[in-house]
Amino acid sequence: MQMLRLQNSDELSMIGLGTFKSEPGVMHATVTEALKLGYRHIDCAPVYGNQPEVGEAFNSFLKQNVMSRSQVWITSKLWNDSHDPDDVRPALEKTLTDLNLDFLDLYLMHWPVAVKKGLFLPRTADDLISLKSLPLEKTWHAMEKLVDQGLCRHIGVSNFSVNKLKSLCAIAEIKPEVNQIELHPYLQQPEMFKFCNNEKITITAYSPLGSPDRPERLREESEPVLLQEPAILSLAEKHAVTPAQILLSWLVSKGVIAIPKSTNPARMKQNLAATEVKLSNDDMGIIEQLDRNYRYYKGGAWILDGSDYTLENLWDEKY
Ligand code: A2P
Repeated sequence: MQMLRLQNSDELSMIGLGTFKSEPGVMHATVTEALKLGYRHIDCAPVYGNQPEVGEAFNSFLKQNVMSRSQVWITSKLWNDSHDPDDVRPALEKTLTDLNLDFLDLYLMHWPVAVKKGLFLPRTADDLISLKSLPLEKTWHAMEKLVDQGLCRHIGVSNFSVNKLKSLCAIAEIKPEVNQIELHPYLQQPEMFKFCNNEKITITAYSPLGSPDRPERLREESEPVLLQEPAILSLAEKHAVTPAQILLSWLVSKGVIAIPKSTNPARMKQNLAATEVKLSNDDMGIIEQLDRNYRYYKGGAWILDGSDYTLENLWDEKY
């Protein structure tokens, strides 16, 4: 297992299990199998709708005394309906109850977007709360308190642009330690990479395999398919491994944590073993050529007529 060491010397496994899009009902078996295979890092969120099952499986496995709580890294996220500073601690407490844990290793602000209490997704512009009235910095200060209160060990963000990270770093008492973003060869984000390296912010890559099981409504016609990319297929052949292993090994070689989702034991095993694949500088160069700034998750759900969220100000880049 390849580990990444954080500034306070805490370590986490560079391949974690993603749980987004894993239907409730399969999570118990998936998490149990993952832990048996040696996964020691699980990425969760309340919006994935399966935290209670993750918690049940995790806690039953703990009772078998194969591993201790301290050997497993559990991440979860603050949903967009709980950005109000008064809602932040209760949201984490609910997640801890669902996961049946006393603390999280990492708690992330899921999106730089706020919605009204009780909502998963906004239906009209009125369901969104402008960041002018509920700034991310206020939410961040409430997240910082959770560390002081011992409810989580580390805090970070997700889907934040470089600009938003800069603003947060400028006011933070505890700097964000992680930014979890979509990252793969079609979306390499070199500027984010440079900024995070300089600021010692760890990047976690979601959709490292291009998220082939996204719901139909989130797909575009003629979108590129990462797992069928000819350059990746030919590197897989060269190294006698699978395309998924090339994609994951590329991230790990760049010092990025990857959280591939799988509910299939053979693929889970394969993904965990990807850190054994060693790519050469030439291989890395070939993959670098694939960048096309292509997002599979564009964040369109947050863009509704009449609100001040736009794709431009969500990602802080031109659309
Ligand atoms: P499954 O759960 O049946 O294994 P991402 O992590 O980018 O969101 O991608 C998740 C998707 O990729 C799921 O459809 C998952 O299917 C599939 N997947 C996970 N691991 C592999 C693998 N090693 N090879 C091919 N597909 C994989």
